[in-house]
Amino acid sequence: MNRPLKLGIAGLGTVGTGLLQLLAEHGPRLAGNVSRPIEVVGVCARSRSKPRAVTTDAIAWFDEAARLAVDPSIDVFVELIGGEGGAAKTAVEAALNAGKSVVTANKALLAKHGADLAGLAEQQGVALQFEAAVAGGIPVIKTLREALAGNQLRRVYGILNGTCNYILTGMTEQGRSYTDVLAEAQAKGYAEADPTLDVDGTDAAHKLAILVQIAFGVAVPLPAIPRRGIAGIDLIDIRFAHELGYTIKLLAEAFLDPANGTDEAGGQLALHVAPVMLKHARPLALVRDAYNAITVVGDAVGTTLYYGRGAGPMPTASAVIADVIDLAVGHAQLSFRTLRLWSGHNRDITLRPQATMPSRFYLRLMVQDRPGVLADVTRALANHRISI
Ligand code: HSE
Repeated sequence: MNRPLKLGIAGLGTVGTGLLQLLAEHGPRLAGNVSRPIEVVGVCARSRSKPRAVTTDAIAWFDEAARLAVDPSIDVFVELIGGEGGAAKTAVEAALNAGKSVVTANKALLAKHGADLAGLAEQQGVALQFEAAVAGGIPVIKTLREALAGNQLRRVYGILNGTCNYILTGMTEQGRSYTDVLAEAQAKGYAEADPTLDVDGTDAAHKLAILVQIAFGVAVPLPAIPRRGIAGIDLIDIRFAHELGYTIKLLAEAFLDPANGTDEAGGQLALHVAPVMLKHARPLALVRDAYNAITVVGDAVGTTLYYGRGAGPMPTASAVIADVIDLAVGHAQLSFRTLRLWSGHNRDITLRPQATMPSRFYLRLMVQDRPGVLADVTRALANHRISI
C-alpha cells in the first residue's frame, strides 16, 4: 500500500459531517481502489462541543481554518465552510500558498474569486477541485471539463438549486405554503446558511457563473447575470400555470448565439436565472424535490441531460470524495495543470445585454372590476411595445 493521502477538513456542518460519515463507511474500499489509504488527520469548525452525528475525538482539532490549511500533517485541504470571503477565502489561499491542493464545495467563493484562486493553484503546481460546488452529486464539472471537451458547447441550462426545486414541488403537489416547505428544506440540510441566497436565485447564479467559466471559458461577474427568485410566486400562479399546461421551475440558463450564425466559437452569450413555465412533459418539468438536472448541448454530441440529487449532505459528500480520489491518484493535479480552465477569457464571446433578449412572460393582474380596466392595461403595455 502506498503512502496515505492526508486530509484536513474545515467546516463540520451538514456536508462536513456527511463527508466524515461517508469516509468512515467507504474508507477501506476507497483505499483498495486507489491503492492508498485516505485519512482525515485534522478538522476545524466553529464549535468543538456541538453535538454531531460523528465523533472527531481521534482527529486533531484546529480552532482556525487557516492554521489547519497550512499544517504540515495534511496533503489536501477540504474547505466546507462556505461564504464568498472571510475564513473560507483566507484558508483556501493559505493552503494553496503552502503548496496544498484544495477541494471546495464553495460556489460563492468560486463565483467571485475562482479565477484568482485557480491562478494561484496553477502557480503553485497544485489543484483546485470543486465538483461539489455545482449540482451536488451530479458530476457535471468533470463532464464539461473532460467528457465533453471535444465540443463547442452551445447551451447549458437546468435546475441548479435543490431548495427552490423542493419548495416548488411542495407547493405544486401538496398545495403547501412557501414558508412551510422552505422550513422543511432547511431542516433537511438543503438550504444555505442564509436561505435568501437560495430563494432569490443567487445560489443558482453562483453555480451558473462556474459552469459558464468551464463550458465557455468566459468569466462572468455575478451582477452580469440577471436573476429573479421564487419568493414572489404564489400558489395561485402555480395553479394557473398548471391549468395552462405548465410547471414552474427555477432555471439557470446560458445560451450561446454563434457569431454571424456560423458554427465557429464566439458569439453572444445570454444568461439568466428566473422562474420559467415549462410544458408538463419537458424532462426538466419532471425533476422533483431537491433533485437537479442540467441539459448540455454541444455541436458534436447534441443534447445531453444529467440528473441527480443537487443538495444535501451525502450527495455533496459524494462529489467531494470524487475530487479527493482524483487527487489521490494524481489525476487532478495533472488535469488542472493541463486544462487551465480558469485562465484567460474567451474574448470571442461577449455577454448579451438583457434588454436585447426577447422573452415571453406570464402576467397576473389584480384589477378593479370596472369597465375599461383591461383596455387601460393593454394600452399601457402597447405603449411599451409589449404584445399580449
Ligand atoms: N443550497 C443549495 C441548494 C445546496 O439548495 O441547491 C447545494 O449547493
